[in-house]
Amino acid sequence: MSKSIPSARLDRLLANLGYGTRREVQGLIHSGRVILDGEAETDPAQHVYVKADLATRMTVSGEPLDPPPGLALMIHKPLGVTCSHKETGALIYSLLPERWRRRDPVISTVGRLDKETSGLLLMTDDGALLHRIISPRHHVPKRYQVTLDRPLNGDEAAIFAAGGLMLEGEEKPLLPAEMEVVGPKQATLTLHEGRYHQVRRMFAAVGNHVTALHRDRIGLLDLPADLEPGAYRLLTAADIEQVFGASA
Ligand code: URA
Repeated sequence: MSKSIPSARLDRLLANLGYGTRREVQGLIHSGRVILDGEAETDPAQHVYVKADLATRMTVSGEPLDPPPGLALMIHKPLGVTCSHKETGALIYSLLPERWRRRDPVISTVGRLDKETSGLLLMTDDGALLHRIISPRHHVPKRYQVTLDRPLNGDEAAIFAAGGLMLEGEEKPLLPAEMEVVGPKQATLTLHEGRYHQVRRMFAAVGNHVTALHRDRIGLLDLPADLEPGAYRLLTAADIEQVFGASA
């Protein structure tokens, strides 16, 4: 069955992308600054098909249109920023273009990384995609590079792999997780669920303390080596396939 392509009134689309209030974007459109396929589109009530390629066919004040709804991106989360809309201080959203913060539907993080965790974070305005990635049913693994305060004992990998570990204050045991030793105080840990501060609490449960934490992979999607802390890029269809590439 073919999926129908949603259409939207031009003024509504631009207002929902954060270009201004409905009245402001009507002004932009009337002034001839919205160009579609090389021609000024001066009717705010004109319906346009909302597909990803719209960003290559439309310009607003000479700049390519922002990605239409259905946006998904990867960002290299730096240390010290928070994955929240509400808290004060440095927020992950401040690393995106200012206009993107006024979009409807809003862009959210796909799960969270702690303030003091760096690495690969996905963000999207697509609720169904977000749910598919975080839902335990889809088993999207996430891999972390862990640095510890004290040398590993040698039994951690077996304890984590067995599953059943109970974290303090929780009622449900953990799912099995895979740990690989990288050095005396370094390991990678791959999780198949996402509990609050899970990696830090798992190592606390075996008597150690995490001093640095970095996520480098979601599914089979790696954080690109050339994506600097704070930088982001849109996900391609191939990237999204990689996210689900290791899933059952
Ligand atoms: N586990 C943690 O402890 N922190 C994170 O940010 C992610 C996983």
